[in-house]
Amino acid sequence: MKVRIFDTTLRDGEQTPGVALTPDQKLAIAQKLDELGVDAIEAGFPIISSGEKAAVKQIAHAGLKAEICGLARTERKDIDAAVEAGLDYIHTFIATSDIHLKYKLSLSREQALAKAVESVQYAKSRGLQVEFSAEDATRTDREFLRKVFKAVTEAGADRIDIPDTVGYSTPQYIAAITKDAVEATHLPVSVHCHNDFGLAVANAISAVQAGAQCAHVTINGIGERAGNASLEEFVMALQCLQFDKKFETNINTKLLYETSRYVSKVAGVQVQPNKAIVGENAFGHESGIHTHGVLSNPLTYEPISPELVGRTRWFQVGKHAGAHGISAMLEEYGIKPSREQTHEILERVKKLGDQGKHVTDVELLSITGEVMHQEGLRRLVHLTGFSVSTGIGNMPYAFVKLNIEGKDFIGTDYGVGPVDASINAVQKITGEISKVRIKEYKLDSISGGSEALCEVTIKVEDAYGNQASARSIGEDIVITSVQAMIDGINRIMLKKILKQKNMGQ
Ligand code: KIV
Ligand code: ZN
Repeated sequence: MKVRIFDTTLRDGEQTPGVALTPDQKLAIAQKLDELGVDAIEAGFPIISSGEKAAVKQIAHAGLKAEICGLARTERKDIDAAVEAGLDYIHTFIATSDIHLKYKLSLSREQALAKAVESVQYAKSRGLQVEFSAEDATRTDREFLRKVFKAVTEAGADRIDIPDTVGYSTPQYIAAITKDAVEATHLPVSVHCHNDFGLAVANAISAVQAGAQCAHVTINGIGERAGNASLEEFVMALQCLQFDKKFETNINTKLLYETSRYVSKVAGVQVQPNKAIVGENAFGHESGIHTHGVLSNPLTYEPISPELVGRTRWFQVGKHAGAHGISAMLEEYGIKPSREQTHEILERVKKLGDQGKHVTDVELLSITGEVMHQEGLRRLVHLTGFSVSTGIGNMPYAFVKLNIEGKDFIGTDYGVGPVDASINAVQKITGEISKVRIKEYKLDSISGGSEALCEVTIKVEDAYGNQASARSIGEDIVITSVQAMIDGINRIMLKKILKQKNMGQ
């Protein structure tokens, strides 16, 4: 069965505390969602501001494949604003639970029902496709909910939606009221689940199993309070888990990670590291037992292949590490220690772990260099020219010249400070070559005084989620930052080249 994905990242997702998007940012996200393959995009709530109305209008006229929808209360002025925004599809809602009726709307059940019916009729008279939501449906009297859905259906609604507004439902209850709604209306039923008890995706899946044809979801699960059902978790669960019928969506799952990162960056909402599918750690392995298993067959500790969602698996060394994992990580850099050397490296890594230290590839490579009495890694990237100008009244500006595998590249850029300008200039070059971007940047002062030594640690990532860390120490913050960035890029490019070589063999 095909499940419809109604994405509300740009409406409910934008209601995440602290998030506000400009019309251009909203359009850019809508384009990404369209590429991802969502069936409908809730572009915004046109009545709330002129910028919001303009953003919805831009999205409605952007020629996207997805259906574009806008939110409207059961008020004529909201519906008119949606029409003015160029929409032909609205999502209109009124609360139906006694709590909302008494404390928020001061309406009786019958008055709310009449408003719902009147607004559906009005929206239809304005030529709109109408999806009707009974807000707080899961805390609404079950008989009354059925009555509301029946009445709006008779008034001409095209779809109905069951919002679990405060994430209060259990999977069993949402299944029961989904069946009620399907029986009462015979219209396509959607569910809109919030995550207050961490059950949003489970509830959405349960509703779909009970007959809902569509789920309202957001990228990274962003939304009011604890957020909404996450698109990536919902889609992958439907596609990969065992159900008594087969579910499919139109989502191009290979774009999930890229879309998640994009939304996280634009909306400024970080993804928790242990989040399913798109969290940093979702395909990372630390313990020796797991690493050994995955190296022998990834199915041992990975329910799905990371490539399916546009990601790459990675290994982390630490106190739970084993020889297989250490060897695999070093092999990514083309380093092959002997058995004895591997054991010595492992011992030293575990010692650091026992001291509570986080062991990145910086420490691993430095230990390996000592144990194997080797110089640093093969260098593909060399800094051959660099200058930066800064001052009061002029925006800092940097010029960078890199030699990458024998070819010269020049990058220039501005920034909020000289470090930012320099890193931006480097990224301009490497962004084009290998889509490398800086993921973490940390600056520490090692000694005091104006001639203090500083230490810069960075983590870089390419478009496939391959990561590398690097650290540099020096007197000049700007040059030290650029050196660390270039070391990181060198590492990630080396890994990529060796991987391609291994795959070609
Ligand atoms: O969570 C909710 O109830 C909503 C409504 C606007 C449908 O987002
Ligand atoms: Zn909501």
